[in-house]
Amino acid sequence: MLSSTLLVAAIAAPAVLGASVPRTKTTVATNLFTPTNYTVVKDIFIQDSPTFSSSGYDAFSDSLGLIDKTAKRWENLQDHINALNRGSDSLTAYKLIYIARHGQGYHNLAESTYGTPAWNCYWSEQYTDGNITWGPDATLTDLGVTQALAAKAAFTTQAAAGMPLPQVLYSSPMRRAAATLQLSWDDLLISKGMTPIVKEALRESIGLHTCDQRSTKSVIASTFPTFSFEAPFSEHDELWGPDYQESNGQQPLRLQQFLNWLFATDSSSIISITAHSGVINSFFKAIGHNAFSVQTGGVVPVLIKAVGHASATNTAIIGGPSATKPTCAAGVVVPTARG
Ligand SMILES: *[C@@H]1O[C@H](CO)[C@@H](O)[C@H](O)[C@H]1NC(C)=O
Ligand SMILES: *[C@@H]1O[C@H](CO)[C@@H](O)[C@H](O)[C@H]1NC(C)=O
Repeated sequence: MLSSTLLVAAIAAPAVLGASVPRTKTTVATNLFTPTNYTVVKDIFIQDSPTFSSSGYDAFSDSLGLIDKTAKRWENLQDHINALNRGSDSLTAYKLIYIARHGQGYHNLAESTYGTPAWNCYWSEQYTDGNITWGPDATLTDLGVTQALAAKAAFTTQAAAGMPLPQVLYSSPMRRAAATLQLSWDDLLISKGMTPIVKEALRESIGLHTCDQRSTKSVIASTFPTFSFEAPFSEHDELWGPDYQESNGQQPLRLQQFLNWLFATDSSSIISITAHSGVINSFFKAIGHNAFSVQTGGVVPVLIKAVGHASATNTAIIGGPSATKPTCAAGVVVPTARG
């Protein structure tokens, strides 16, 4: 009798959790508190190493970078994260975050067409060159779609090998990121009932570049009907402007505030974020991760330790002034009739 009771309980457990999403292992909920310090748990992923170079590295054919290459690698990781969270005091939590960059957008194509100097000082402030249109709210190119589908293929292969699936999907409000998230996770999670959540804090560097001016909430909602929005979420873009840009000092502060919110309100231990290169660089700064550039469509898994002890320090984030419009250096070729 005892064993059949346990069997019934084991079968019933997923329904009790309310998720129709398949899960291979249980995940231990994290403590909820506002952290004062974030660090990376090292020696889990190859990308954690200070000597890691992303040049020529294909995480999708290497278990996303997981160092453990045994058949039970993902199960071992899930057990490890569970043990860390079970053993944590009330002001300590561990979350595994899969942070993804959107696939190639039309703004990336324009930047590679014109070169970064001319892009930054001129083209990024235009909406189109009469052929390619990248603003407002640049969409994915065909290559970008292909890259998102490559991420989906990698997630599908690793999920079959036991990779812990995200319990929550957070998206930048920009269409290129939401579309990448949709393509990456539709079959594995969204079609099974998971609703991605749009977070304003995950948008790309705010200001100047028209590709980073977002669509209205109505347009995002009708383009991505399976997504939900944090509340409140403004109909119009209240943050973007044509004269100033959030700087590389300011953006990590925004990401730190996002993490503070995440650890204070979401007890999920496995989390997916789909965003942008600037957001990923800032996220790396906020958690003290090795800095490297992530290609369009790339994914980096990170195990984060957060603590809320008053004695913990947080010194890496400086804030500082916004960036202003750059002028084109001598020799940078742009159209003569500049507006
Ligand atoms: C227009 O843009 C496409 C890429 O979307 C490019 O292949 C093509 O060469 C461009 N045409 C012109 C006339 O610049
Ligand atoms: C978190 O604390 C560690 C030392 O415990 C320190 O090296 C790191 O700089 C701190 N992180 C931040 C963002 O200040």
